[in-house]
Formats: sequence, C-alpha cells, structure tokens
Amino acid sequence: MDLTAGVRYAEELYSADEPLEDVLASIREKGMPEISVSPGYGRLLTLLVRMTGAKQVLEIGALGGYSGICLARGLTEGGRLLSLELREDYAALARDNLKRAGFEACTEVRVGDAREQLDELIREGRSFDLFFIDADKVYAPDYLDKALALAKPGSVIIGDNAFYHGKAYNPDNQGPGAIGIRRFNERMATDSRLESTLLPAYDGMTIARVKG
Ligand SMILES: C[S@@+](CC[C@H](N)C(=O)[O-])C[C@H]1O[C@@H](n2cnc3c(N)ncnc32)[C@H](O)[C@@H]1O
Repeated sequence: MDLTAGVRYAEELYSADEPLEDVLASIREKGMPEISVSPGYGRLLTLLVRMTGAKQVLEIGALGGYSGICLARGLTEGGRLLSLELREDYAALARDNLKRAGFEACTEVRVGDAREQLDELIREGRSFDLFFIDADKVYAPDYLDKALALAKPGSVIIGDNAFYHGKAYNPDNQGPGAIGIRRFNERMATDSRLESTLLPAYDGMTIARVKG
C-alpha cells in the first residue's frame, strides 16, 4: 500500500493485529488479490458496528474475511454478520479465517452474485442495521439501491474504495468501475434519504445514515 505520511503516522500508533496479519498472509499464500480494507478503516468498521449497536450486519464482498472479522469484532450479544461473496474459493477462505478468529457461530458467508442474493433477501423481507459495500464497483449503485430496500431508519451504509485507486476522480477514466463508483459516491452524497460523509484517507470511504 502506498501510504501518505499522515496515514503512516496513524498506522504506527497501533500495534500489529496478529489475527488480521494472518488473514493477509493467507490471502497472499493463495495468490488472491491483496485488496482487503485498509487497517484504519477496518478499525472504523469495528467501531461503527459497536457504536451503533448493529445486530444484523450485511457485507457485500468477503474476499478472505479481513473486513468480516473487523465487522464481527464489533458485534454484541445476539448480533450476526451475513457476508455475500461471488467466488466459492474466496468464501471458503473467509469462513476459515472467521472461524480461526472465533466468529464461526455469529457469521455466515453465502456464495453467489450479490445482486441476486440481495434480491432474495428483499423477497424474504429481511432488514439490516449496517451494510458494508465492498464488491465490484461496476454494480455499486445497484448494491446501494438494494441496501436501501433492506435498510430501516437509522441504518448505516458504508462503501469502501471511494477513490477507486484514483480512477474515481480522473475524468479521463471512463471504465465501467470508475463510472460505477462515481455514481455510487454521488448517490451517497446527494440522495435525499441519506446523510453522509466521504473520508479521504487511504482509498476513501463513504459512510451514510438512513434518515428517519
Ligand atoms: C475488495 S474485495 C472485498 C474485500 C473485503 N471486503 C475485505 O476488506 O476483506 C471484493 C470482493 O467482492 C467479490 N465480488 C466481486 N463481484 C461480486 C459479485 N457480483 N457478487 C458478490 N461478490 C462479488 C470479489 O470476489 C471479492 O472477493
């Protein structure tokens, strides 16, 4: 990761987090993409779950379970995390890592395309207190629409990679991922149902609260 001086200073304040370091090592060993949420935002995910008292947490994009562990760490008695992941092999590693970190009982990783899985959750009449949207950026606006259908007043919606490695604010980049994350960021900023902010450290993170 290319860290700015401020981010490096912040990271040096915190001691190594061995369970999360193990997750990163397992991802590396398997040759999977090294795109887990940044350490500082991982800590923020734990805090947001804890501070909101979220009981039903939904993650879109599990990879190796790094952010899943961060979210699960914030859960209190009776809280649960459901994580959606496209690839069976990634979901298997996420399950292994969540189990090793002690969160097997309160977490579930489901395999399949997130848009279809979200539609299924909507049909089931489910609702969630906190969403972490971190899958393919092309469909980020669709994930937001579906999260809003699964949300209630006070629910929190978080999106990672607001800058999308610089592609979000490079107008020359008209790739589908860049367009997707721009639309997502714009919706998070302007949708009248949301109040939000964009945190500009690391690769950017948007956080919104559903009004009501
Ligand atoms: C940036 S990674 C997630 C990182 C993870 N949240 C973390 O911080 O530890 C994006 C993940 O989304 C998954 N993904 C991509 N497209 C998807 C889709 N259509 N449905 C569900 N998951 C998808 C990828 O396989 C990948 O594991």
